[in-house]
Amino acid sequence: MGEPVRIGLLGRGTVGGAFHDLVNERADAVEEAAGRRPEIVGVMRRSEGDFDRILDDSEVVVELIGGTDPARNYVLRALGAGRHVVTANKQLIAQFGDELFAAAREGGVQLRFEAAVAGVVPVIRVIQESLAATEITKVFGIVNGTTNFILTEMASTGAEYADALRRAQDLGYAEADPSDDVGGADAAAKMAILARLAFGTSVELADVAYDGITEIKPDDIAYAKELGLSLKLLGVAERRDGGISVRVFPCFLYSHHPLAPVEGPFNAVMVEAPAITEITMSGPGAGGVETASAVLGDVVSIVSGKAPVHAARRELEIVRDINSAFYLHLEVADRPGVLASVADVLGRNEVSVRSVVQRGLGNDARLVMVMHEGPESRFFSALDEIATLEFLRAQPRAIRVIEEEWV
Ligand SMILES: NC(=O)c1ccc[n+]([C@@H]2O[C@H](COP(=O)([O-])OP(=O)(O)OC[C@H]3O[C@@H](n4cnc5c(N)ncnc54)[C@H](OP(=O)(O)O)[C@@H]3O)[C@@H](O)[C@H]2O)c1
Repeated sequence: MGEPVRIGLLGRGTVGGAFHDLVNERADAVEEAAGRRPEIVGVMRRSEGDFDRILDDSEVVVELIGGTDPARNYVLRALGAGRHVVTANKQLIAQFGDELFAAAREGGVQLRFEAAVAGVVPVIRVIQESLAATEITKVFGIVNGTTNFILTEMASTGAEYADALRRAQDLGYAEADPSDDVGGADAAAKMAILARLAFGTSVELADVAYDGITEIKPDDIAYAKELGLSLKLLGVAERRDGGISVRVFPCFLYSHHPLAPVEGPFNAVMVEAPAITEITMSGPGAGGVETASAVLGDVVSIVSGKAPVHAARRELEIVRDINSAFYLHLEVADRPGVLASVADVLGRNEVSVRSVVQRGLGNDARLVMVMHEGPESRFFSALDEIATLEFLRAQPRAIRVIEEEWV
């Protein structure tokens, strides 16, 4: 067996603490798998440790501080000094990927970040290594466990969004400030990383259009259930019209879709390519021990493997007007001609209707419709027109639907 792998650990919080314990517990197993025993030679947190000393003593720096400052500076210095780096920091990779990958190439070292997307689900390794010879056409899935827990809770109990969020916070699935998760920004950062790796092109955070789940109402979920649909916050990165589209949005799925049964704080990612049809990977999206095991897996890869290539190989355009199907929920006056007027607006905008249910009477009358897939720009211009119809009792609510029915 070789020399120990000298690891400098930056951050010893939820993930860093679990990583520290895991290195001790699994040292024998790592030695067996990689031929070298991991050893933590220095720890840095706000209150202890000296970065220069850790850098001198280590050959792999594990960054588990989070955020971009001072994490970016530490990671750049480590790469520049010829140290391999492992991080779980999605913001760092999504915002400064180009700079960090260039620093890793120049330093002749590896930068690994499996835990930054979908926790312990090994989606990055699969895209970069198992599917390196495959032309990936689409990567999509549930990459935020907090929102999936909240939507599952709303669907199973009929709870309002705010109550489901509180329960997620009580159980430790949501942070005290949940805005990055529920607003979609967290999932957008992860999708920027996945799109970059899947398509070999540079993807900035600003290229990702995202919506969150804060406006979702329990009755949307209940009515959609009647239409055989369940609601997820999906990240979708795909090739479209010679370019790519990367988006995050709440979305209804038919019950046979492989992502429909993914509930609670779980993550699941699907990859599609002509050569493989489609694969689905799922598992816990967060948690100290789970994330730490993905980080230690990266250390094993560094010791035993060759660096994956992160360089942008081509420049692909970001396509913004793409085709989608929509669910539309209208609170309307209970009188003849309402459905015909809505159908007229949709027809003039070339939006075709797949199914309609009419519910309630008097002050509770509603029209719930699902459209067929078509250009989003056409649907949104119909929606603007519908919003002005005088018989509407509230703003229309629209949510995308994945139309493919999986069997
Ligand atoms: N928690 C999860 O389930 C999870 C899942 C996937 C990915 N991640 C990612 O993993 C990373 C770590 O998350 P976490 O939940 O473990 O965070 P955390 O519990 O807040 O721990 C952060 C650690 O970094 C240290 N730190 C903070 N600012 C520092 C500074 N300026 N200089 C030196 N040390 C500093 C803290 O020091 P003190 O101990 O002195 O406060 C603490 O030890 C983040 O990038 C996060 O996005 C976390």
